[in-house]
Amino acid sequence: MLGDLASLVSGGVPTAFQSVLAAMAAAVTIFGGGLTLGKLLGGSSLKARAREAEEKLDAENERATALEDRFAEIQDVLDGAVNIWLRPTKHDVGQYIKRLNNSIPILTVANFKGGVGKTTVSANLAAYFELHLNKRVLLIDFDYQGSLTEILLAASKLDNVEASAKRLIQGEDTPEMAFAKAYSLRPELPKSQFFPCFYGFNKVENQVLLRWLTQPNAPEIRFNTHKYLSDPIVQKNFDVVIIDAAPRLMTATINAACASTHVLIPTMLDGLCTNATINTLGVFHELKTELNPALDIVGVLPTFVAQSKNLTSNETAALNQLRQLIPSYWKKAPFPEIISDAWICRKAAISRVAGNGLAFSTDNDVRDMFIALGDKISARIFPNEDRPTPDAGIGYAASVTPIASARRRG
Ligand SMILES: Nc1ncnc2c1ncn2[C@@H]1O[C@H](COP(=O)(O)OP(=O)(O)OP(=O)(O)O)[C@@H](O)[C@H]1O
Ligand SMILES: [Mg+2]
Repeated sequence: MLGDLASLVSGGVPTAFQSVLAAMAAAVTIFGGGLTLGKLLGGSSLKARAREAEEKLDAENERATALEDRFAEIQDVLDGAVNIWLRPTKHDVGQYIKRLNNSIPILTVANFKGGVGKTTVSANLAAYFELHLNKRVLLIDFDYQGSLTEILLAASKLDNVEASAKRLIQGEDTPEMAFAKAYSLRPELPKSQFFPCFYGFNKVENQVLLRWLTQPNAPEIRFNTHKYLSDPIVQKNFDVVIIDAAPRLMTATINAACASTHVLIPTMLDGLCTNATINTLGVFHELKTELNPALDIVGVLPTFVAQSKNLTSNETAALNQLRQLIPSYWKKAPFPEIISDAWICRKAAISRVAGNGLAFSTDNDVRDMFIALGDKISARIFPNEDRPTPDAGIGYAASVTPIASARRRG
């Protein structure tokens, strides 16, 4: 029948008859074989519509497959079969390592154990870098508790600030837009700036993670902070970055690990902290292996130590236990060092100023302690620089400057 219709159409039948045929053709379209008939009728628009429909179907199929893949991945996470944070990346890792190897030092201070002194160390090391070494420091608060933010707000006398650290994990701003929301630490640290953080940060961390997990073809989120910190706006305007990480592995901590050149792990010397610290080291080992091979563990830093010269017997036992356990969590040498010649003591002066400023600026003992630690760390992160003379800092007379032997970052 189709053949007959075709010959009638091509034979130049009258217009009225043609419209009857067209109606029949439409009917045939509904009951099958319509595309062929459309072709026979010279219906190029039908052909185009068919192609369009096919393309739409392909796109929908692709979307459905991507969604299925996403849900399979989520199921794996729910089943505990994979650690979502260690998923392989499609990032160009070669380019990324190159950028980090040429980067200014970016130091994350982390431990999944809470209350071991991460924030105190971050703030006072920043003071050391600017006031003793004359460096421009960028400080990032990546913990929604906002403890670092409180210390720095007190130091800078700022009050009405945006919790702009969230911009560094959202990844939506240009670097210029994000850095318009970095705050000066004048008058205490006039060359330094910081990104504050408050409780809303928690919501942003969840949003960023959930979008990444659930949206098909969602862009990589683990390198959002790296995008900003590797930009010339940071690399040219600062000498060192310090990120105060939260005691948990979430969007911000993973971004910090992927953006950093170095990690420092403060810990108290007791049984509870030893286990948490070993676990933290294990996770950073995996992150280094899977995502950021340029990451260097500066060391495990004892904090809240009772005395400056000697360890108590309990502290010595915990330190030895740490030493013994590290090789089983850190698969091959060189193993992370325990910083046993520049530890941080428990000091009343630190608790006294907590939340009200920087102990480095108000107490000589605290300052000397952080100069000893800072010199040790800067030998590692600025391996090609000469150490400053003891009075190179501004506004105080430094008294302790042990110089550790410089080690190049691999
Ligand atoms: N060396 C120290 N001597 C005395 N007090 C200290 C010392 N270091 C930190 N503290 C105090 O202990 C508390 C916890 O310190 P801090 O906030 O630095 O720990 P944290 O590891 O950042 O905690 P979190 O895991 O909650 O972020 C604070 O009140 C701080 O002032
Ligand atoms: Mg903290």
